[in-house]
Amino acid sequence: MAEHSDSRFKGGLPDYLIRHTTFRQMQVFEAIVRLGSFTRAAEELFLTQPTVSTQLKKLSDVMGLPLIDQAGRKIKTTDAGEELYKAVRKIFDNLSELDNRIAEIKGLRSGRLRLAVITTAKYFAPEILGEFCRLYPGVDVSLKVTNKERIFERMYNNEDDLYIFGQPDESDIELEVFPFAPNPLVVMASRDHPLCKESNISIERLGEEPFVSRELGSGIRDTAMKLFAKHDIVPNVRMELGSNEAIKHAVVGGLGVAILSLHTLSLEGASGPVDVLDVKGFPIERNWYLVHPKGKELSLIAKTFLEFAKSSEPSIRKKMKDLYIEFSNRHMVRRNKNIKDDSRRLRAGT
Ligand code: PGA
Repeated sequence: MAEHSDSRFKGGLPDYLIRHTTFRQMQVFEAIVRLGSFTRAAEELFLTQPTVSTQLKKLSDVMGLPLIDQAGRKIKTTDAGEELYKAVRKIFDNLSELDNRIAEIKGLRSGRLRLAVITTAKYFAPEILGEFCRLYPGVDVSLKVTNKERIFERMYNNEDDLYIFGQPDESDIELEVFPFAPNPLVVMASRDHPLCKESNISIERLGEEPFVSRELGSGIRDTAMKLFAKHDIVPNVRMELGSNEAIKHAVVGGLGVAILSLHTLSLEGASGPVDVLDVKGFPIERNWYLVHPKGKELSLIAKTFLEFAKSSEPSIRKKMKDLYIEFSNRHMVRRNKNIKDDSRRLRAGT
């Protein structure tokens, strides 16, 4: 470690560290450790990987010890790194509390709202945020969209003000949970798929179709796999994809059927290239929740957003109901047409 003079703790402050480290270096270090990856840290902070490595090196030089042990592919903190990580988390928690206090003093004229939502909530969260920002134009908003596993990681690390996801009962920490909008799961196929003409399709029949699945760590995947397991079926997984939109394209491309949230069809509606199959037991009724860790003190902005989001629940519920009815009506029309065609064929003796 670089030498410290007796005046190292000026006024009770660690003068040497204050002069030689920066918040940016600490932020980079914190992200590398929390995300376990240089690449993910660079992505999150919108930096290049060489910049991330340089910042870490500078910080190690100031500390005079290696902070990260990079033997093999896994990133491990050294003893010094572990101590630094704890200290940095404390500093950042204090700073974000300070941020909240200042915002409270200013009222809702400025400040920041950090929201992390499950992938399916991206189909409506930006709309609510848009309306919220129109009401409070001074508020900066950051929205992170990710899968269930990453939402939990973020929540344990206290990275956001509020979360929207569907499985609060799986959390390892105590939560404050506010029931929110419905999130129905449906089975999707391309519009020209033969199963679109059938009704009351069994899960066994579904299991015979090539299946396009979400990635490991996805809540939708967990639900789909649990359903197949309950019926002793091993799904015929043809492809795994990490995005709902990519899965919809795979479905349209005829690569298989998929289980996804009905919200993923909210833009194209029932007249798009994806159809919803009439499968027994579907839609699987699930709900989203607005969540924050118990005991976390919400900023004024977060409290205001929480109430605002809760008040938009009825319109999201109605939107989903209308969309489902739209698909059901299409099925009804198609079924009636099939019955008419069948009876015409019967009459014609073909
Ligand atoms: P996932 O969750 O993105 O983790 O699959 C989506 C959901 O639970 O609605």
